[in-house]
Amino acid sequence: MKIIGTGSALPKKVLTNDMLSGIVETSDEWIRTRTGIRERRVLSDETLTDLALEAARKSVESAGVNASDIDYIMCHNVCNDAMTPSLAAMINKELGANCPTVDLNAACTGFIYALDMADSLMKTGKARNILIVCAEQPSHFVDWTQRETCVLFGDAVGAVVVTQSDDDCFFKMSTQYTDALYCSDAWHDTPFQKCKKENNFLYMRGRDVFRMAVTNCCKDIKYVFEKSGISSSEVSYFLLHQANLRILEAVRHEMNVAEDKFPMNLDKYGNTSSASIPLLMDELNKAGKLHRGDLLVLSAFGAGFTSGAGVIKW
Ligand code: ACO
Repeated sequence: MKIIGTGSALPKKVLTNDMLSGIVETSDEWIRTRTGIRERRVLSDETLTDLALEAARKSVESAGVNASDIDYIMCHNVCNDAMTPSLAAMINKELGANCPTVDLNAACTGFIYALDMADSLMKTGKARNILIVCAEQPSHFVDWTQRETCVLFGDAVGAVVVTQSDDDCFFKMSTQYTDALYCSDAWHDTPFQKCKKENNFLYMRGRDVFRMAVTNCCKDIKYVFEKSGISSSEVSYFLLHQANLRILEAVRHEMNVAEDKFPMNLDKYGNTSSASIPLLMDELNKAGKLHRGDLLVLSAFGAGFTSGAGVIKW
């Protein structure tokens, strides 16, 4: 399987650290030094579905295929505009692809799960060209009175089109339970069951998440190296989930990787959950920094606690 097109879409509204300090008790200095984030985008006039469609169209165009060539649409999102139909079904309707559609949820690790599933569908001959859209709106589930979480996230969509090819790729995922990161949903009461109505914002024990993130990323990347038989020196780029500069730097140092192989953009967008890797990939692609044959190592982690890594040839 290989990636033949990329696209992304961002909300227009830019929220800087200084603007945040007018909402919660925080400062640009605290946020920059603890996370590396300077600003993020948040949805205001547009919807997540609008952005998902924009990114989907751009990635299909960049792949040089028609919507009718897409034979599967997979979306990944933690929090969608509608519980049903799925975001993938909405994209299918607007693009006119007329293909099977599904939404997945593996938190911030979602892009890697989606690639792995796409690869499996291709290997069983069930699809040839798959559109993957990672669309996230964490601004709608963080508590805007809690400085510990609301400063970290941003909304964004990243998309890719993948196609069948002889190039090998390899993905590895895992899940270990932790209560350090979760978000409950708010359902309706029924005549038979009351719903928990307490806090349904994102809950996070930052230090525990930090530790699990660094440990899992390093373990997953080493596993991918071992199983795929590639070494760090053969890798063109390490594309990691853009959660936090200090997490990324800790992994980079442990893996002994040069800075120029470890692109980052979280200063501009914050943590955009599963959209962060395809968004970064789209930026590199547009900048002409990806060349056919380049080996890309991907790694991500998120609530669950899910984590995953993989290697794919550009
Ligand atoms: N502004 C100012 N002060 C703050 C803020 C803020 N936005 N947030 C917390 N503080 C305060 C705390 O209240 C605490 O104050 P206290 O010492 O008086 O109690 C102090 O700063 C230190 O807090 P710590 O939690 O010790 O700060 P730490 O250095 O660990 O940094 C952070 C916190 C940035 C959250 C860090 O733990 C981290 O990066 N964790 C991982 C977060 C993450 O990546 N989550 C998502 C991953 S998965 C996914 O993408 C969904």
